Formats: sequence, structure tokens, C-alpha cells
Amino acid sequence: MSMTLLRLSRAAAAGLIAAAALTAAAHSAEAADTLGSAAAGQGRYFGTAVAANHLGESAYAATLDREFTSVTPENEMKWDAVEGNRDTFTFGAADQIVNHARSQGMDVRGHTLVWHSQLPSWVSGLGAADLRTAMNNHINRVMGHYKGQIHSWDVVNEAFQDGGSGARRSSPFQDKLGDGFIEEAFRTARAADPAAKLCYNDYNTDGVNAKSNAVYAMVKDFKSRGVPIDCVGLQSHFNGASPVPADYRANLQRFADLGVDVQITELDIEGSGTAQADNYANVVKACLAVDRCTGITVWGVTDKYSWRSSGTPLLFDGNYNEKPAYDAVLSALGGSGGGPGNGTASCTATYTRTADWSSGYNGQVTITAGSEPISSWTTTVTLSLPQKVSATWNASATWDGSGNVMTARPTWNGSLAAGASTSFGFTVAKNGSDAAPTVGTCTAS
Ligand code: G3I
Repeated sequence: MSMTLLRLSRAAAAGLIAAAALTAAAHSAEAADTLGSAAAGQGRYFGTAVAANHLGESAYAATLDREFTSVTPENEMKWDAVEGNRDTFTFGAADQIVNHARSQGMDVRGHTLVWHSQLPSWVSGLGAADLRTAMNNHINRVMGHYKGQIHSWDVVNEAFQDGGSGARRSSPFQDKLGDGFIEEAFRTARAADPAAKLCYNDYNTDGVNAKSNAVYAMVKDFKSRGVPIDCVGLQSHFNGASPVPADYRANLQRFADLGVDVQITELDIEGSGTAQADNYANVVKACLAVDRCTGITVWGVTDKYSWRSSGTPLLFDGNYNEKPAYDAVLSALGGSGGGPGNGTASCTATYTRTADWSSGYNGQVTITAGSEPISSWTTTVTLSLPQKVSATWNASATWDGSGNVMTARPTWNGSLAAGASTSFGFTVAKNGSDAAPTVGTCTAS
């Protein structure tokens, strides 16, 4: 099937074509039940970062193929991956992702051409004239290889400093070529693939601040002088130290008002349960409120492979269960909360050591329900022998024959609302071993 037909058949399945004929707003008559189809109903794409080495995992590929309409290679198109040695280009892993995406009718975001990080040392060692040649050659060769296959390229990534200076970040490009390297990269990129949208992409530019003001001034200058730029990517990596800014929507809008598209390019929000879900919903609503916010990409499919996996910042947990944040995003996109797998009770279990002394420690396991309410849960805690549990609370425990695998079930605390949590605890006698226990998969009913 051709890509166009494949895309049309996906859209038709979601009831979008009939709806689009009825209303220019293209809201689906029946609410869509995946992220991609719901976003399409709003005229947006919904994408994810993808790592080539996970494509062989069936649950990973199935979730990717079902839910997303755009992919960004997480590392495979970076300079060190495609041109580790000068003029020798290796596209194997990136091609794998692009081929997978195209076979599924998905769009591809290119990430990234000119960036100070994941840059091979041979590039940093060049003198100015040679560096300029190498930069332009890199852009030409990589964009040439994927010509016509990339909807948006992050041409330059993270070129501004954090903090209040509004200055450019020191990098081989900045230090040797000066401010003009960004403009040169965009001009080279336009000629290399005129069909691709050309984006400037950065983090900590999500709200109005000194850094985003500096990017804003650059984009304004580019637009006024006819330097080719089509989009600004706001990475949107959020956590407690860097929360979703209150002026997020206003910031998206001011960039859009310069005459560029805005894209949320690397979204992830650390947290869990309803707090995380609310943050995700707010980000999606902000994008939908800005006409030129054309799509959202989350930075990974599942928490277990996230670059911030301990912060569980994504929409699917480590077992590919939809989290409350998934439901919140789907519903903010106007979809129905009935995606495949929905309606299935699920839970996650996370461990922390809450007290420690020379001969023992207290452990705590927090059980969090997935996107459906649950009536019971169970998980295991495996100790390193000769450790021994001397007490448990808020769970009933049974033991395997060797005495080191504890199966925990609820006492009074089996029923949890969607996204809600409970904890149980235990005291361990170390008996000479300080090893942390392993918590098994959480199973819910
Ligand atoms: O593949 C090797 C593996 O063979 C090796 O054993 C292992 C040991 O360290 O490293 C593996 O490579 C790691 C790679 O991720 C793949 O997992 C690199 O060390 C690690 O540095 C790399 O991190 C990536 C990071 O960019 C590098 O800056 C993250 O996956 C990726 O999510 C992250 O993405 C960036 C965006 O490109 C730009 N914006 C910020 C964002 C988050 O940092």
C-alpha cells in the first residue's frame, strides 16, 4: 500500500474522513481512540522518539505503530552516529527507523544536524575554514540521503546558553565560526532539501525567559532578513525543578506570531498519577490553543527506556500499560478514553529505602494504579540472602521455599482509583548484606 493510502486508511478507520467532509474543524464524529488519530482530528501529528535497537521488541513496536503518527530518531541521526569519521557516512540505524516509519505511514522528524553534543572529536579539532566546509558537507550529505522523507529537521540544536545572559553557547561552531554559523546552517539546509521544514530546537525555552527571548530575537531577525526558518522546537523536558511554565501557551503563541510553526519536540514530564496527567493535559491544551502549534512529540514510548526513566515521565509504563497521563492526553486531544488495552486493570510498583541502620533497613513499595481503577494488586520483593524480613505492614506476605521471595498482597488497601497509590513497608535484617531488594512486576485485577 502506498504511504498516502496507508495514511488515508488509518484516518478512515478513525472516522476522520467523513468528519472532515462535514466540518472544516475536522473533529471526528466518533471520538478517536489513539493518540495519533485523536491528534489528526485536531490537524496535528502525535509523535515519539524511537531507538532503533528497541524496534525488535514486539510490544514496543506494537505500541509505536498503534499510537503514533510521527517518529524522531532519539540518537541515530546525530553527528556521531552518521559521520563518526570524516566523510564516511553510516545510516544503518537511522535508515531502520525511517523505513519502519514509512512502512507505517508515519512522518519523520530529523534530529539533529548541528549540535555541540554527540559531536565526534575530529569535528572539534578543525580550524575555522575546514569546520565550515565540514558543517555544510554534513548537512548536505545527511539531508541529501533523506531528501523528501523528513517533514521537519532540527537544523541547529541548543545553540544558546542557559541562565540570564541570552548569549550563545560556546561550541566549536560558535567559537570558530561566530554567530553566523546558525544562519549558514539554515541556508545550506534549505538548498539541501527544500521540502523539509527547518527548525531551531532548544530546551529551557518553553516559557518566556532570557534564553527564549534570545531565540525569539534570532528568529525575528531571520524572518526580517529572509533567512530560511520554518519552525521553532520547544523540547519541553519538565520535572519538579523545571515545571510546565505558566506562560507556556503565551510563549508558543509569540513564536507563532513571528510567522513560524511551533512544535513540541521532546515532551516528557516526570511524576505519576493525576498530577502528571494534569501537566500533560495542560501542555496538549496549550498546543491546541495555538493554530501554528502543528504537533507534539514525546521523548520515548515507554518509561523503561526514557533518558529519565527513574522519573517515569512518559505515557506508557514499563509494561506498555497506558498511564493516567495517556488518558489525559487522549482526552485533551478530543479522543475517547477507550484505547486498545484500556479497560484493563494495571499497576506499577516502585521501591525506596526509607530508613537504614547498621544491622537493618526499612523498605517501602508504592503501588500505583494505571489508567483504570483496580480492586486488588500483587507484587514480589526479592531479597539477597541471607537478608531476612522481620516485619511487614500494609500488606500480607507469603514466602517461597528459599525464604527470599516475598509475595505481597493488599490487606485493607486493594482498591485504588485510577492513578491512585498506596504503599506497604517491611523491615529487613541485613545479616551482613546491604544489597537492595528487587521488586517484581505489579499485577492488578
Ligand atoms: O549505545 C551506547 C551503548 O552501547 C553503551 O554501552 C552505553 C554506555 O554509556 O551508551 C550507549 O549510548 C548512550 C545513548 O544515549 C543510547 O542510550 C549514550 O551513552 C548516551 O549519552 C545517550 O544519551 C542520549 C542523550 O541525548 C545524549 O546527549 C539520550 O539517549 C537521548 O535521549 C538524549 O536526547 C537529547 C536530545 O537529543 C536533545 N535534547 C535533550 C535530550 C535529552 O538529553
